[in-house]
Amino acid sequence: MTTQQQTYRQAVVRVPSGPRSVEIADVPPVEPGPGQVRVRIAGAAVNPVDLGVAGGVFHRLGMVNQPEHTGPGWDFAGTVDAAGPDAGLTVGTRVAGFVDGFDRAHGSHAELLVVPAADVAVVPDGVDLVEAATVPLNATAAAMIVDLLGAAPEGGGRLLVTGAAGAVGPHVAVLARDRGWEVTGMARAADEAFVRGLGAGFTTEPGEGWDAVADAGALQERALAAVRDGGRFVGVQPAARLPEERGVSVEVVFARPDGELLTRLLARVAKGDLPARVHAVVPLAEAADAYQAMAGGGVRGRIVLVP
Ligand SMILES: NC(=O)c1ccc[n+]([C@@H]2O[C@H](COP(=O)([O-])OP(=O)(O)OC[C@H]3O[C@@H](n4cnc5c(N)ncnc54)[C@H](OP(=O)(O)O)[C@@H]3O)[C@@H](O)[C@H]2O)c1
Repeated sequence: MTTQQQTYRQAVVRVPSGPRSVEIADVPPVEPGPGQVRVRIAGAAVNPVDLGVAGGVFHRLGMVNQPEHTGPGWDFAGTVDAAGPDAGLTVGTRVAGFVDGFDRAHGSHAELLVVPAADVAVVPDGVDLVEAATVPLNATAAAMIVDLLGAAPEGGGRLLVTGAAGAVGPHVAVLARDRGWEVTGMARAADEAFVRGLGAGFTTEPGEGWDAVADAGALQERALAAVRDGGRFVGVQPAARLPEERGVSVEVVFARPDGELLTRLLARVAKGDLPARVHAVVPLAEAADAYQAMAGGGVRGRIVLVP
């Protein structure tokens, strides 16, 4: 479509009842305000949080109060289509980012999206926009998890990363090693080569006695139980924060868009340090099928919707 067109297509959830409640609607374009850009989306990953929106998890928690519909989709990559005053980015620039929050009518599973320019990063040359679309939410969450973990204790520390073959976990495994942790990734048996390829050890069971656990697989109590007394735990489910026990410090991540952080993370993707895995590319018109496939589990890399 052109910018002058009267409407654009976006995924909406009117009555959440699972993957099949995702529909495509025509909505009027929004103009970017001061400090904002409108992005013409080239790819938008489907994440577990989108399944939660389609399934009504956040509606039931009272976190959504939209009169007509919610706009699902967090991750995106594309090109700047229009820039508001002081946005500092020119039309045509390749950017990636994610939009957070639940109570919103617009999301990234769309042709166009207006976001603060400070929330996006310029995509380095050599990184494909569809690949870039898999990175923002999950690498940002991983970097924030590693910040919550902090540096390994003097003399080294043993860290278990659950969900090490998912989207968040691989980034945690790589970034935690930079902070001195000796990393072991937990994943399914078939994921062993991938996890070892990250430079991590491998296990299929959480075991016990770890100095710290980064629970990117959202195993929750099972993962907390694997931390030694007095160790550290970082979870990924803010709505289900675990209570502290046995002197274990318990933190939970809530990823927020941060364009400067994402710029550094995408630079590492460009160098090949961090993965950008695409499971499948699906037309936006088939968003409900993509959500359904994601809900089936076992997906490695992200399903990316392309308008
Ligand atoms: N709070 C935040 O800011 C934030 C941000 C991003 C993500 N998250 C959350 O973080 C979690 C991970 O996200 P993601 O996108 O990385 O999810 P994902 O791609 O589904 O990865 C999770 C991985 O954990 C594996 N897994 C689950 N149970 C396992 C078990 N018992 N043994 C071995 N492997 C197991 C899954 O394998 P199978 O597919 O085979 O089950 C999958 O590979 C989700 O809960 C997501 O909602 C939170």
